[in-house]
Amino acid sequence: MSYAAITGWGKCMPPAVLTNEDLSTFLETSDEWITSRTGMKERRVSHVSAVELSTVAASRALACAGLDPRDLDLIVYGGCSNEEQVPNSASGVQVALGATKAAAMDLNTACTSFCYGLAAATAMIRSGTVRNAVVIGVELISRYMDWSNRNVAVLFGDGAAAVVLQATEREEGVLGAVLGCDAEARASLRVRGFGCGYAGHGVTLGDTLWDFDGQVIFKRAVAAMSQASTRVLAERGLTADDVSLVVPHQANLRIIEAVAKYAGVPMERVFVTVHKYGNMSSATVPVALCEALEEGRVRPGSWLLMPAFGGGLTYNALLVKWGDRVTPLGESPRTLPPVTETALELVNRIRANQDPHGRSKAGLTAPTFAESLAVVTG
Ligand code: ACO
Repeated sequence: MSYAAITGWGKCMPPAVLTNEDLSTFLETSDEWITSRTGMKERRVSHVSAVELSTVAASRALACAGLDPRDLDLIVYGGCSNEEQVPNSASGVQVALGATKAAAMDLNTACTSFCYGLAAATAMIRSGTVRNAVVIGVELISRYMDWSNRNVAVLFGDGAAAVVLQATEREEGVLGAVLGCDAEARASLRVRGFGCGYAGHGVTLGDTLWDFDGQVIFKRAVAAMSQASTRVLAERGLTADDVSLVVPHQANLRIIEAVAKYAGVPMERVFVTVHKYGNMSSATVPVALCEALEEGRVRPGSWLLMPAFGGGLTYNALLVKWGDRVTPLGESPRTLPPVTETALELVNRIRANQDPHGRSKAGLTAPTFAESLAVVTG
């Protein structure tokens, strides 16, 4: 059986920077509160679509791998920021890349979507279904953020990154994966306003309400990521000392520090981006991986650990054996169009379309999950 080497990587960060000070111009919050509770100082707001971010990231990853898009067998679009439900977003990336031969699928497990996608594409290569794949982690949360809710609005940012996987006989790539879902706590993170359940309830598209119990998520995230990390290492006969770099999901610096402590890895061997990008959901792990490579933090032949958690509450820990190459084979000329507005102006434009008085949000209280399940179960 073959393995699935990671042969390319590329990120696409929207240039507009939203600072903690920007947020405090329209929310009752402060740089001091956000920094001390989360470690975040800045995040990005995109002026383009999630498909555009994904296409640039994927083009850069393909150039890095030296792979022609026309030779691509599979595109996995990992994230919960879709332009539309039908057609899917991966097909939009396929057209934009000119990857005419590639299968195209969206995969949504919220913040773990990239890691789940990486595990799924690896399995498809190892079983011989495809020879190569691009796996994207992307989010455009600014468009469906409830900008009137300081509990969540300060935490998230936009971004995208991608990796290329190629079949190889060498034992490398994802060699261990623990995937799970702490579904008992699924109600602790819920974005109301998306989905069929809201049809006919007078909901204005993009006008969301977030149910968010930060403390519940915090505790469960630490437990799930720590246990998954310990298990994936044990299954491979490794210990924390064998891990050269942890590339974790970046939801909160305190969560990352707690997971590193439980897993027994000192923070010097943990790669952190949360201060400059916030929580980009599915994009956090691949963006951090790209930057770790750019900064020379990934050594040839080393072990990387990728723990993550997300809405659901899904979680994972991936164990990756890196190959020999840590530098790109080529560069893509593809880039984003210039941005003409500041991040605060972009956000204020989104806010202007949200109803601050809850008029259209009335429909967001219905149906509850129990109600929609009752329809199915009778
Ligand atoms: N600015 C100022 N005050 C705020 C803000 C804000 N932006 N947000 C909340 N507060 C207030 C609260 O109202 C509360 O006030 P009160 O004491 O008067 O009631 C106070 O700050 C303390 O709130 P806590 O919930 O105790 O703060 P905590 O230390 O738990 O930190 C946080 C909150 C950052 C959300 C933390 O719980 C956390 O990181 N949770 C998990 C992160 C997470 O869930 N990320 C997204 C998950 S989704 C994903 O990644 C898939």
